[in-house]
Amino acid sequence: MMQRTKNSPLILQSALLFLLLFILVSKSNVCAQALPPAKLDGFVYGRHRVNWDAILIEAFVDPVCPDSRDAWPPLKQALEHYGSRVALVVHLLPLPYHDYAFASSRAIHIVNNLNSSATFEILEWFFKHQEKFYNAQTLNLSKASVIDEIVKSVAEVVGKSYYGAVRSGFNDRNTDLKTRVSFKYSALRGVYGTPTFFLNGFVLPDAGSALDFADWKTIIDPLIGRKGPKREDNVHFFL
Ligand SMILES: *[C@@H]1O[C@H](CO)[C@@H](O)[C@H](O)[C@H]1NC(C)=O
Ligand SMILES: *[C@@H]1O[C@H](CO)[C@@H](O)[C@H](O)[C@H]1NC(C)=O
Repeated sequence: MMQRTKNSPLILQSALLFLLLFILVSKSNVCAQALPPAKLDGFVYGRHRVNWDAILIEAFVDPVCPDSRDAWPPLKQALEHYGSRVALVVHLLPLPYHDYAFASSRAIHIVNNLNSSATFEILEWFFKHQEKFYNAQTLNLSKASVIDEIVKSVAEVVGKSYYGAVRSGFNDRNTDLKTRVSFKYSALRGVYGTPTFFLNGFVLPDAGSALDFADWKTIIDPLIGRKGPKREDNVHFFL
């Protein structure tokens, strides 16, 4: 422990430090956004009615993460298999060590604003072409040129007429904020790797690795067994 001979300078120092911290914190609040957000984070998969009784899978994915990409086809297969008994909400978690995770996630939010039916199409496009946006592949490219590439490609997928809207989406503060909300929501749920899955609110072990279809069956079949006969009275639109 430090010998403290004179107390008052220490108190003065602490007060100054506190003041400095206070100023820093209030300054950073200038760019903080209004939370909670107006809409719950996440994209609901599929357009069919979802049984309120359904088993809810929440998937946290990063569009430029290889394990998220590998986890996607078996998850889709499981959804097809279980139909309305299982519902999926996808949350984007742009991981800070993937240089273009935030821009890719933002592109998905932009598309969701323009045509929500194309949301998963664009997520799948990123999964398929994510290697173009890996750190090593973009090392010598400017951020502007990578965003350019993202805008062009996204517009090809959702329709060339959307080019201008996709481009201006990247200058729209709201799409930036939505993507930040996705990140913050993931942090709030304690998620720090992708893919991470929650089942009816509880996290599945082995975050960060892909589950195959057999794994999903092993997890979901017993739950369906325990639920007993399907009730038809409780049908709502999910969200
Ligand atoms: C929205 O996206 C869906 C799925 O890609 C497509 O079928 C539909 O034509 C799009 N709607 C518009 C208005 O672009
Ligand atoms: C980036 O530039 C360095 C130095 O010129 C070169 O050695 C490297 O191969 C380049 N990487 C890519 C992915 O183009």
